[in-house]
Amino acid sequence: MLDNNNYEVLCLYTEALSCALKHRDAHTQLHSQRIVLLSEELGKSCSLSENEIFILKIASCLHDIGKIGIPDNILLKQGKHNPEEWEIMKSHSTKGADIVKKLPINNTELISNIVRHHHEHYDGCGYPDKLSGENIPIMARIISVTDSYDAMTDTRPYHPAKTHKKAIEILNDEKGNKSDPYVLNKFLSRIETSSYRVE
Ligand SMILES: [Fe+2]
Repeated sequence: MLDNNNYEVLCLYTEALSCALKHRDAHTQLHSQRIVLLSEELGKSCSLSENEIFILKIASCLHDIGKIGIPDNILLKQGKHNPEEWEIMKSHSTKGADIVKKLPINNTELISNIVRHHHEHYDGCGYPDKLSGENIPIMARIISVTDSYDAMTDTRPYHPAKTHKKAIEILNDEKGNKSDPYVLNKFLSRIETSSYRVE
């Protein structure tokens, strides 16, 4: 998929973009770093190959890179978004896919596609393309689960951090509608003994 030179160059570009995100929105960059760890663990549980795990980690690191293109009054808003703001907020997935696609190396199409689809739902009610089931790339389905867990167990401007128990309860409720049951089951059995499990 990628030759050795491309691996190295891709890592360097990813670090640079992650640094740009840190300066724009440090909270999202820290969240993305945790997603890399959770996704790597879940990717292994889902029996992804070494090469796929590498791609998954890059995509996890960059999944929210499109947020650098969201205006401050929306990105950093301390309350609920109105419908108009929410539409702009949602555009981070397509903006991120555009950014990744521009990286001057081969095969960024795959990573761009994962970034584009990380908010699709298994039942087809997500965005931006309302993909459903296995039409959603497996790595995007993995990021969707790790993203949900980390977002729920982290303090956000619009909600306090939820406990592990509460987050698992919500994830279970989302099985089959938001989340891929196969991926979610793998996550649920792995997270209990994971060092990334919160209290
Ligand atoms: Fe996102």
